Amino acid sequence: MSSSPHPHTFRLSPVAYKALTDRAAAEPELYWEGESRRLNWSAEPSQAYCEEQGWFVDGALNASVNCLDRHLATRADQAALIWQAEDADRVVTFTYRTLHEQVCRLANVLRSQGVRAGDRVAIHLPSVPEGLIAMLACARLGAIHVVLFGGFSPEAIADRLADSGAVLVITANVGRRGAKRIPFKTTLDAALDLRPEAHAINHVLVVSVTDDVVSMKADRDMWLSPLLEEAAAECAPQDMPASAPLFLLYTSGSTGKPKGIVHGTGGYLVWASYTHELVFDHQEGDVFWCTADIGWITGHTYGVYGPLLNGGTILLFEGMPSHPGPGRWWNVIQDHKVTTFYTSPTAIRALMREGNDVVQRYDLSSLRVLGTVGEPISQEAWSWFNDHVGGGRCAFVDTWWQTESGGIMISPVPGAVREKPASATLPLPGVHPVLLDERGAPKEGATEGVLCLRGSWPGRALTIWNDAALFERTYLQPYSGYYFTGDGARRDEDGYYWITGRVDDVINVSGHRIGSAEIEDALATELLIAESAAIGIPHDLKGQGIVVYVVPRDGAPDDLHLRAAKAITSKVGRYAAPERIHVVPDLPKTRSGKSVRRLLRKIACGETEGFGDLSTLADPEIVATLISIIQAPK
Ligand code: WTA
Repeated sequence: MSSSPHPHTFRLSPVAYKALTDRAAAEPELYWEGESRRLNWSAEPSQAYCEEQGWFVDGALNASVNCLDRHLATRADQAALIWQAEDADRVVTFTYRTLHEQVCRLANVLRSQGVRAGDRVAIHLPSVPEGLIAMLACARLGAIHVVLFGGFSPEAIADRLADSGAVLVITANVGRRGAKRIPFKTTLDAALDLRPEAHAINHVLVVSVTDDVVSMKADRDMWLSPLLEEAAAECAPQDMPASAPLFLLYTSGSTGKPKGIVHGTGGYLVWASYTHELVFDHQEGDVFWCTADIGWITGHTYGVYGPLLNGGTILLFEGMPSHPGPGRWWNVIQDHKVTTFYTSPTAIRALMREGNDVVQRYDLSSLRVLGTVGEPISQEAWSWFNDHVGGGRCAFVDTWWQTESGGIMISPVPGAVREKPASATLPLPGVHPVLLDERGAPKEGATEGVLCLRGSWPGRALTIWNDAALFERTYLQPYSGYYFTGDGARRDEDGYYWITGRVDDVINVSGHRIGSAEIEDALATELLIAESAAIGIPHDLKGQGIVVYVVPRDGAPDDLHLRAAKAITSKVGRYAAPERIHVVPDLPKTRSGKSVRRLLRKIACGETEGFGDLSTLADPEIVATLISIIQAPK
């Protein structure tokens, strides 16, 4: 139990927090109606929730107005976004006034390129201000942004452009990663050339991050900055219904196909504002740094929308934790007096390895709240972050949520919920987790089970783009009457939740979700591979690492594992590169032909016994064969 008293004054006392929780449970309609007043509506919703139609359905609003315009009267000269470039001496600050102006200019550019409300616009950018500006510019027009993670391969981008039907892409000539250059434009060009008939991209706007030269295709590609200079600095916002999609964000699940999770406007924004204020104890003067890439949901909700909705100041850093030296992140916190620092257990594990003396060189006394997200955090990493980075003075929020939930669901609330290292603790007021047994019956008290959610919440995704039936099948049908999260959890005697990890075939590598099926589908494109299985195993640094088994076809060459690795990185991306690839004669299968992942996982972890009854396998001998292959000296 964390015993260090926090010297800070937090917004919520335990008593006030309990009152919120009780009210949200007793009078949900009134509670959420109240919370909806966090936003400026052009038409106020007459109802919070309706089972058939969702949240705030007859309300109308504009997301960029809520993030920018409404703060102009009181905060025009306050920093909205501080961008720390890779170079230590380059900092660009946007006030609410100048950010508003840039967003309007880009919205006008998009409009002049034919973008209209409801159109999809893809954003494929490194950590530069234009990413955030582009998201808000889309929102200003009612266009739906589709941010594509910078680590995606051309194949992965091509699939997502085709599925979303995006009409325009905003990209960069290159991104910077330390001294390296990441070829954004070249990757996008390759994606657009792969299946030209499958996408609807007419225009590519290119941000020049450096002066690197890239090829520009006439009539399609344009440099963004001259267009911005010519554009007007005012742009009338488009009113949108609360249930209009604000963005699509692709994520992985049990099926090979990436799912375009659709988030709406009203409910999502209420959730972003509510959770950012509550969980991060947002206060006047805070400097909020979320290290997630905008290509992931964390970058959307807490790298952009939450802090701006609440009139906060965002810090965006272009670079990496360890460049030019291992203390770079601490240096950024010191220089910009960051108060709220939200990052991943993977990053903490890596920074921990650099040793305590690195952290000690910096003044981190501005920090007030530390947060983590994306994967379970170990007690060791929790304590290191809390003691060495937070100096034992800060609130620590281990936040559990997912792309589909829109924002944080289970987390401590600073000052109100007592922390236990490595527990996500309690649901936020208005969130109702349940733990179910395999048959779908709720389990009471201290127990372990499948984590589901009862009832809806404003941030819940609307659907899956182009596949409403898949949304139902994935989230609503597995456990009738509940929303299925895909995670397992334990609940202790204090009602605290401890997330145990995915119960489906999703692998969590450094906090990035990768579906086993996505990897297996990529391998299926390699003609020399008959079949394959991808599983996750514990990994010291990444949380989980990927191990792949491939079964060759007759006559496959010796370098099959190299071809397998290439199939994965070219179809999915480098972030899905496996730790190990085993070429094996067959997979352990049931008589009906289903591979038994439980066995594959145990064998990959180096176990040699305790496999239980193998008599149900089509070929029980295969287990011993696989063990001998995995154990063989390399
Ligand atoms: C996992 C990221 C343990 C979980 C916001 C979830 C966590 C998936 C935590 C969602 C946490 C997220 N402790 N596990 N605090 N937070 N996860 O969609 O398995 O990229 O289902 O959203 O990450 O990943 P996603």
